Amino acid sequence: MSRPRRPVIQVDDVRRTYQVTEELAVHALDGVSLRIERGELVAIMGSSGSGKSTLMNMLGCLDMPTSGRYLLDGVDTRDMDEDEQSDLRNRKIGFVFQAFNLVPRTSALANVELPLSYAGVPRQQRRERATAALKAVGMGARLNHLPSELSGGQQQRVAVARAIVTNPSLVLADEPTGNLDSRSTADVLAIFERLNDEGRTVVLITHENDVAARARRVIRLADGRVVSDVATGAGAGDALAGEAA
Ligand SMILES: Nc1ncnc2c1ncn2[C@@H]1O[C@H](COP(=O)(O)OP(=O)(O)O)[C@@H](O)[C@H]1O
Ligand SMILES: [Mg+2]
Repeated sequence: MSRPRRPVIQVDDVRRTYQVTEELAVHALDGVSLRIERGELVAIMGSSGSGKSTLMNMLGCLDMPTSGRYLLDGVDTRDMDEDEQSDLRNRKIGFVFQAFNLVPRTSALANVELPLSYAGVPRQQRRERATAALKAVGMGARLNHLPSELSGGQQQRVAVARAIVTNPSLVLADEPTGNLDSRSTADVLAIFERLNDEGRTVVLITHENDVAARARRVIRLADGRVVSDVATGAGAGDALAGEAA
C-alpha cells in the first residue's frame, strides 16, 4: 500500500508568546520548526519551562501559535474555527496528561465512554468500545472502579484507554509517567509502544532518560527552541528529514 508521504505534523517557525504584563512577554516557543511522520514514536525532552507543554498543547489544537503555522494532516490549523478544532481533537487526537485528569466519582468505564458521548456514539456501542479499550490496557477487571479506588498506574492506564477509545491516529502525552513508580512507568510505556506498533503516531514529553531511550527519536527543547533532534533506534534513519532547528 503506498500513500503520499505527508507528515502528520508539520510545524513551521512557530512562536507562542504569553504577554504576562504590558512590559513582560514570555516567548514560550521561539521559532520552532519540525515534522513528524505517520507512525513515528517521538520523545520531547527539555528542562522545566523549556516550552514542552506549550508545544504539546499546540500539537493537540488546545492552543494556537502567536505566529508561524501548524499543519495537522496537511491542514492548516489557522483555517479551522473552534468547532472544527474540537471535532478534529475528538476524531484524530488522544491526549494523556501527567495528572491523569479522570472525572472523580465516575467509574473507569464511564470515564472512557466520555469521548464517545461527545462524538455521539450510541450507548451500547459506547459500552462495548470502552470495555475493549480498558481490556487493551489491562484494566478489564476494574471497569466499575472509581478513580479513587485505583492506583496511580491504574488511573493512568484508564486515562490511556480514554485517549485511545476514539481510535485516534495521533496520541499525545505530556509527562504521562511523571507521577508513576517505575513498575507502572514500564507498564504505561509498554502500552505506548504497542499503540505505536499498531501504526499510531505517538509523541510523548518526558524528563526521564530511560523513557526517551525507548523512543525512536528524541527532540530536545531549550528556551522555546529545538536544540537537537536525533534518531535513536534502528529503522529511524528516515525520521529526520527536513529538520533545522
Ligand atoms: N499561561 C501562561 N502565561 C504565562 N506564561 C506561561 C504560561 N504558560 C507557560 N508559560 C511560560 O512559558 C514557558 C514554557 O512553559 P511550558 O510550556 O509549560 O514549559 P514546560 O512544559 O517545558 O515546563 C515558561 O517560561 C512558562 O513560565
Ligand atoms: Mg510541562
